[in-house]
Amino acid sequence: MKLLAHKLPVLMLALAGALVGTQASAETKPTAETHPFHQCSSCHSMDTSANAFGPSLIGVYGRKAGTVPRFAYSEAVQKSGIVWDEDNLRKWISGNDTFIPGTRMRHVAVTDKKQQDDLIDFLKALR
Ligand code: HEC
Repeated sequence: MKLLAHKLPVLMLALAGALVGTQASAETKPTAETHPFHQCSSCHSMDTSANAFGPSLIGVYGRKAGTVPRFAYSEAVQKSGIVWDEDNLRKWISGNDTFIPGTRMRHVAVTDKKQQDDLIDFLKALR
């Protein structure tokens, strides 16, 4: 129950995002799939206690890169010495393997400014 309660705000956020998306563009099919995080959720769990294929992103905003316990990061990310602030997150999602060459995370390229903003807002809210 505790876990579920923790997930609720996240789910509501995702839902809100989907609804906003619906109003913004009548042509695109209004599903949860339109939220940009759908490109990440196959590897990143929303569960604070769980690492999936990628590390848990709960609390990622303001966190030092490569510091989730028990996750096998690449050396590249561990040694990057960066903190996940807005600027670094934007560089990461617009081309992670250019920003930190040698990362194990599959190439992502979110180039649309609005989608970047949505994603960063979403990540900030993952507490
Ligand atoms: C194919 C699986 C996969 C997908 C898709 C993916 N990631 Fe990742 N992600 C990873 C892996 C693996 C790592 C660890 C990278 C490393 O150690 O080099 C990672 C690391 C990260 C980190 C650094 C976390 C930390 O603790 O330092 C962030 C931030 C991140 N991903 C965000 C995203 C976002 C946002 C998306 C969607 C746009 C995304 N990821 C899509 C697998 C994925």
